[in-house]
Amino acid sequence: MGNRAAAVGPSSGGSSSASAAPTSARPASGERRNYEPPRRQGVGFRGGKVRGVNSEFEILPEWERAAEAVLARPGVVVLLGPSDTGKTTLARILTERWWATGRVVGLVDADIGQASIGPPTTVGLASFSPDRPIPPSARPQVLHFVGSTSPPGHFLPLILGTQDLVRRATAAGAEIVLVDTTGLILGSVAASLKWHKLKAVQARHVLALQREAELEPLLRLVEGQRTLEIHRLPVSSRVDRRSHAARRAFREERFRQYFASAKRHDLEWKNVRFTRLWLNTGRRLGRDELALLGVSLQTVPLYAEALGEEGLVLVRGPFSRAALYQVRSALQVSDVLVIDVEQLRGTLLGLHDRDGECLGLGIVQDFDPENERLRILTPLPDPVRIASVAFGSLRLEPTGKELGEAPWR
Ligand SMILES: Nc1ncnc2c1ncn2[C@@H]1O[C@H](COP(=O)(O)OP(=O)(O)O)[C@@H](O)[C@H]1O
Ligand SMILES: [Mg+2]
Repeated sequence: MGNRAAAVGPSSGGSSSASAAPTSARPASGERRNYEPPRRQGVGFRGGKVRGVNSEFEILPEWERAAEAVLARPGVVVLLGPSDTGKTTLARILTERWWATGRVVGLVDADIGQASIGPPTTVGLASFSPDRPIPPSARPQVLHFVGSTSPPGHFLPLILGTQDLVRRATAAGAEIVLVDTTGLILGSVAASLKWHKLKAVQARHVLALQREAELEPLLRLVEGQRTLEIHRLPVSSRVDRRSHAARRAFREERFRQYFASAKRHDLEWKNVRFTRLWLNTGRRLGRDELALLGVSLQTVPLYAEALGEEGLVLVRGPFSRAALYQVRSALQVSDVLVIDVEQLRGTLLGLHDRDGECLGLGIVQDFDPENERLRILTPLPDPVRIASVAFGSLRLEPTGKELGEAPWR
């Protein structure tokens, strides 16, 4: 971050009323300027750190015009753009800008990888009302667990979760709801995701951040709709590009912070429902049937169930894949998933109360199908409220280190 003359330091930026000036007080359009957030400097959306103190962001005139267009026709605004185009930064700038005009603004973070509100693998909502200053670190008021840091295979929870957060922000009085998204914009998977997402949230504005024409294939899908305004926006030349490793390090740090205060908690199967890994929903195999599966798989069988055409078998230790066809025929299913419970350690969990509200995240420490018990690590202050457990498709160490994908979607 540079220190240009126009930047106002925190000492002079303080909480003066002038700094909360409405957007009409901005400099003439066409002029690039540094941006000083109103009232408080630096909303540390990222990593919970107070960033932005002494920092300044470049604001492009096209962005100012888009901000005005949204104020003229408030509603749901979706930010689209490849990774590293400054979406999250622009989201922060716009949120503060609109908030400073006295509006209630909802910010939905639908980026499950480089998350800014809540930990990665979740979508989060933070709403800002004019009577309260925007806190240095935006904590989620509502979370939804998606279970992965990338969207493929997780469209339903991602889209439904985003839709629900937008609905809730609106119901709570937000006139403008801004949705920040992942950088997945290329190909048919991206097209499907963004198309459904725009429909689900009933977007009024799309802010399309692109360097060249990267978003045009997506924009062609939605262009011409009477209810939707598309604003094509240039990318600031000051955006830092981050490597794959830097993105991973960012996620791991977010997880580390999230689990820093985690404690052990034991869950009894009888008290919880399982989702994502659809456990305890099908016909459970008896002891004798299970023993036969163990012989085929050459390992210790712990648990098996069949649900329609699919079988789920939990074992302890390595097993013989050569025998999977025998397992399929024994269970009379066409598809079987065999999981070594040792490999479940580290699985990220979404923890929900009995109304399905996401309370937070957990990590599997020990999965014990024989005693129908699950030991988890979670920072939740009140884990007795956990009534439903969603299996994520990511495995983690409590330090945040990513251990890879789990074998189911
Ligand atoms: N307008 C801007 N002025 C200065 N720096 C910016 C600006 N936009 C983004 N950056 C910097 O570039 C990096 C990536 O921006 P970010 O908003 O996280 O992009 P995205 O959300 O599209 O991945 C951040 O470190 C951010 O501080
Ligand atoms: Mg981002």
